[in-house]
Amino acid sequence: MLDLAAVTGQVRRGMVPAHVYGDPAIFALERDRLFTRSWVFLAHESEIPDPGDYVVRRILADSFIVARDESGVVRVMFNMCLHRGMQLCRAEMGNASHFRCPYHAWTYRNDGRLAGLPFHEEAYGGEDGFARLGQSLLQAPSLGTHNGLIFVSLDPDAPALSDYLGDFAFYLDFYTRQSPAGVELRGPQRWRVKANWKIGAENFAGDSYHTPHTHASVVEIGLFREPKASKRKEGALYLAGPGAGTTYKLPPGGDFADQLRYVGYPDAMIPAMAAAWSDRQRALVADSGFMVSAATLFPNMSLCTTGRRSTQPEPWSRSSRCGSGSRSASGRPRCFRGSRWTRRRRRSSSGTPTGPI
Ligand code: FES
Ligand SMILES: [Fe+2]
Repeated sequence: MLDLAAVTGQVRRGMVPAHVYGDPAIFALERDRLFTRSWVFLAHESEIPDPGDYVVRRILADSFIVARDESGVVRVMFNMCLHRGMQLCRAEMGNASHFRCPYHAWTYRNDGRLAGLPFHEEAYGGEDGFARLGQSLLQAPSLGTHNGLIFVSLDPDAPALSDYLGDFAFYLDFYTRQSPAGVELRGPQRWRVKANWKIGAENFAGDSYHTPHTHASVVEIGLFREPKASKRKEGALYLAGPGAGTTYKLPPGGDFADQLRYVGYPDAMIPAMAAAWSDRQRALVADSGFMVSAATLFPNMSLCTTGRRSTQPEPWSRSSRCGSGSRSASGRPRCFRGSRWTRRRRRSSSGTPTGPI
C-alpha cells in the first residue's frame, strides 16, 4: 500500500526513496495527476514547415498527429479514427493532404475534418442517417507554442502556456531563441532508456555532480575548455517555475562576446544571439558569468547546450523513449537548408499517409 505522505516527507528531507522509480502505483498517480494535466512538449514547428507535413508523437499510451494543415495552421489531433477507434496514421512522419484509416477507409483532411466514408448511402442512409459534415478528429484540448515549441495539455482548463512556463521562459530563450529567426530542429534521433522517466529529467535539471567523472573523456580528447575537475564542478542551479537547470560559471569580467567565445560559440553566431536576447539576458551572461548548461522543463522536455530532448514515458513505469534534435540557428547558407530531410519527403496524393523515405 503506497504511503504517499511518507514518500513526500522523505523527498522534502532530501532523501528520495528508490521505489519511486519503479512503483506502478506512483506511475499511475503520475499518469493521472501529471501527464493528463500539465503542458507536455510534443514537437517543434520547424519539423512541419510546409502544409501537409506531420509527425506522430505520444503522451504515454495516447498517440497524436501533429500536423500543419492546408492553411498553415498547426494542429494536434488524437490519432484515433472516429469510427471504431483504429489508430489512423501509422507512419511516424510525412506529408499528406488526407489521412485514410486502414480499417474501413474513413478519410480525414489534414485539419481533422471527416472528408469521406465508403458506402455512406448504403451503410448509413447518407447524410440523413449519419451526418458526415461537422465530424472531426478529436483536437488536443489545449495547444500552445513558445519559440516554435509545440506543447499540448490534455486538460481543457489548463492555465495558459505562458502562465505555466512562468519564469522558466527567460531561461528557455537561451536554448530556443539564439537568433531572431529562431532555431530549426534536425532529427530526431531516438533511443529507449531502460529507466524511469524521472531519472533523465533529474539529471538535466540539477545534476552537475556527475560531470567531472561521467564526462571525463570529453576533457581527455580536448573538447571541453576546463581541464580540471574541480573547475568543471563550478556553477549554479536555478529553479524557475516548472523548470530547473544547471549553469557553467564563466570567468568574471568578460564582455558578452568573450563569454560566448569562451564556451565555444563561433563568432558568426554571437551577433544573432545578442539581437535575440533581452538586456537582462545579455547582462546575465556578460556581468554574472552565467551560461546555461542543461535544464529540464517538467515533465518531459530536457535541454542541453548540444540539443534538446523530449521524453515519452512508456505506458509502464520502467522505461522511456527519448528523442533528441540538434539545434542550429536559422539563416545559415541555403545549401545547408536544402539538405533538410523535410525536402526529401514525398507528398501523398492518394490520401494514404506517407512515411519517412
Ligand atoms: S475504424 Fe477507421 S474506418 Fe473503421
Ligand atoms: Fe551529463
